[in-house]
Amino acid sequence: MPAGSLGINASRLNDNLDALGDDWHHDEGCTAWWRSRALRHPRRVRNYVIELMQSAGLSVRIDAAGNIIGRIEGTDPSLPAIVLGSHTDTVPAGGRYDGALGVIAAIEVVQAIKDSGRTSRHPVEVVVFTNEEGTGFHRWLLGSRAVAGLWEPEDFSAVGDDGVALASRLPDLGGNISRIDEARRRPDELACYLELHIEQGPTLHRGGFPIGVVTGITGRSVYHIDIVGEANHAGTTPMSLRRDAMSAAAQVALAVRHIAGEMEVCRVGTVGSMEVHPNAANVIPGRVVLGCEFRDERMESLAAAEVELRRTAEEVAHAEQVAITVTAQRNTPSVPISSNMQQLIADATGLAGLEHISLPSGAGHDAQAIATVTPSAMVFVPSVGGISHAPAEYTTPEDCANGAQVLLNAMALADER
Ligand code: GLV
Ligand code: MN
Ligand code: MN
Repeated sequence: MPAGSLGINASRLNDNLDALGDDWHHDEGCTAWWRSRALRHPRRVRNYVIELMQSAGLSVRIDAAGNIIGRIEGTDPSLPAIVLGSHTDTVPAGGRYDGALGVIAAIEVVQAIKDSGRTSRHPVEVVVFTNEEGTGFHRWLLGSRAVAGLWEPEDFSAVGDDGVALASRLPDLGGNISRIDEARRRPDELACYLELHIEQGPTLHRGGFPIGVVTGITGRSVYHIDIVGEANHAGTTPMSLRRDAMSAAAQVALAVRHIAGEMEVCRVGTVGSMEVHPNAANVIPGRVVLGCEFRDERMESLAAAEVELRRTAEEVAHAEQVAITVTAQRNTPSVPISSNMQQLIADATGLAGLEHISLPSGAGHDAQAIATVTPSAMVFVPSVGGISHAPAEYTTPEDCANGAQVLLNAMALADER
């Protein structure tokens, strides 16, 4: 199976991607479309993917984490598997390509090999990882961390926003939390992991580059910030006597922007969620809960941002006469991609007659968990306007096809090496 000799079917790839993107449901009270949110994957999405896998010749099983794993044997039974994959869940009101492209392209790679009548030396596996985004349970990379043996105590006890425990939700996907260890893979079972993904940022689209070779995946620290003041009447309480949790929250949110922005302590900082209690215009908020995160490739920068966040929280608490508790929820280390694996993608891009640039990933990916078990690499394709995690997310059919072709070439090169 000489690398560069096989071609993907671009129209089949884009038709399958469109079909998956169509299978969204309109969420009440939300003006955008969601697809297979968190663990509430509509069964249709999973069944659709399973059917595509089966027609590509993959035998499908579901592991204890609810990951969908399709496998096709190679000609040499002594070799470990080359794994291709990504996820089908999205953030609330997310886009059509984040995760979905990597899954559909992985299946297209296997289908293209089957159509050519050839067989790889290595077994090939296509994996749809469970709940990459962390939506609903606030525990991300659930499926890929199970495969890597990286589950934490908080994963086992996680309860969804709807009050349903993860342990009760996993069986809906065919998983079983009490057997989660069985989802773990040994390094000697795997040859490498390759993931195609949209960039989700502006670099490739702005520069006119069709392919990005990922050099590493960002580190991320997430905080739960609980601000408790005193609820009181909005009409009768003098300004000087208020303990307003919202005013404090606003200052903390601006401080997060300042820490990453003007102070450049770390690359980016975001307050992305806010719960206001009791949430009425005529009541001074007694409690506000913020969801905050910082990201950087250097873990020391994330540590410095946390110090700055805690210092600011103390200052604001004092000034506003409120109590502020900052709880670190997750600290995901940054993951470098080895130069060998970067070279594999660069060579695969050259075989496709395409140009590439190298760039780090500011988004998190299943690859960062899988990279702790087996050599891993990522291919990026342009996101129009750099928009992602939003309904306007778009990657052209041509760029999707380029990415899938590079994934196929990379798989074939890995099979030779
Ligand atoms: C995952 O999509 C992330 O938030 O980076
Ligand atoms: Mn995402
Ligand atoms: Mn993704």
